[in-house]
Amino acid sequence: MSKSIIQQVRGRRIWDSRGRPTVEAEITLADGSVGFGLAPAGASRGSREAVDLRDPGKKLGGFDIVGAVANVNGEIAQALIGLDASDQAGIDARLIALDGTPTKSRLGGNATIAASLAALHAAAASARQPLWQYVAQGRAVTMPLPEIQIFGGGAHAGRRVDIQDFMVMALGAKSFDQALEWTAEVYLAAGSLMKAAGKQAGVADEGGYWPLFAANEEALEMLTRAIAAAGFTHEQVAISLDIAASEFGSNGRYKLGLESRELDTSGLIDMLGKWMAAYPIVSVEDPLAEDDEAGLIEFTRRFGAKVQIIGDDYLVTSAERVQHAAGAGACNCALIKLNQAGTVTETKAALDAAQAAGWNTVVSARSGETEDTSITHLAVGWNAGQLKVGSFSRSERMAKWNEGLRIEEATRAPFAGRGAVFR
Ligand code: PGA
Ligand code: ZN
Repeated sequence: MSKSIIQQVRGRRIWDSRGRPTVEAEITLADGSVGFGLAPAGASRGSREAVDLRDPGKKLGGFDIVGAVANVNGEIAQALIGLDASDQAGIDARLIALDGTPTKSRLGGNATIAASLAALHAAAASARQPLWQYVAQGRAVTMPLPEIQIFGGGAHAGRRVDIQDFMVMALGAKSFDQALEWTAEVYLAAGSLMKAAGKQAGVADEGGYWPLFAANEEALEMLTRAIAAAGFTHEQVAISLDIAASEFGSNGRYKLGLESRELDTSGLIDMLGKWMAAYPIVSVEDPLAEDDEAGLIEFTRRFGAKVQIIGDDYLVTSAERVQHAAGAGACNCALIKLNQAGTVTETKAALDAAQAAGWNTVVSARSGETEDTSITHLAVGWNAGQLKVGSFSRSERMAKWNEGLRIEEATRAPFAGRGAVFR
């Protein structure tokens, strides 16, 4: 019997960075190798992404996942025991067929991604390779450019500001290590400026400052000042935004709650255009809502040559949707989230589709995270070019950045840097 045959699958309830329950799967192989898969959880979710199965009723705020854990211990365990963990495509095909729904709503995307990821880790352990090396399959790897949040907003900060993520990218850094150091300087500088201005109220879900701004644009002014105060030029450190427009708009109407005003699609595009002219913005995610394809096409037509335009809610880590969007001319970069797809194989297929279209790719965490560092390994091993994990505080974030330092030291791989965004 092959040493990587799955012998045992166990599910258990663990807790995420918001203190909510989430699913862990543990898979043991014939040779004793063990792998763990921990499901993250989003708060600003695309409507087409894989669904987290949550128990009915009010216990734990309606977030309990006893049913999803039971699915791992029951149907999923039965289906996977006896399969070879080194055949990730076969395992994931089995999970997809077993669930039988387009959004994994029967077994739960939280159950399937935990099992899929546990199998991948077990297979890497059996091959006696770190995960980045196992998934790289002998290809040369690159260290990803980090995209790091300084201010949190939207669904991650009680909608205190409408825009969800105000981030920086250390485009001019020469290594992953240096990119983190530069970002730490900006994070510190922003903290001091916020404190002095009386605008800081703790940290948001992903560890960025919870800002008390009177207008969304104030965050851009403050962030630009923080970059300067930390001593960097805009060639060295630039701004990246996740507008997460699906959270405040649909049917071509966008409500900026903080500023008590409503914009239509072209109004929002014009506002973002003004911001891009006034501030050193190099990347914009979900500038229009997921249902506003015409808006996304128009935005990409106007700005796609100058800035990176990332699809998250609109693309939901689906190879099919990436191919469709590339054909339609909407976006030029895909956000890649494991639990949006629900299996490792489908996640990789979306990344491959984006790279085949000549797009950039960003492997991303969710706002609800765990200590798991898989995505750092996948961003390296899959040569994604970029990694988005949230801010520069809270250990569910720092675990992923710190793992990148270990991988950089082990691989001595070149740093993707500016070339990950501008090719
Ligand atoms: P989420 O947000 O994990 O809460 O969905 C992250 C993002 O929009 O990129
Ligand atoms: Zn997003």
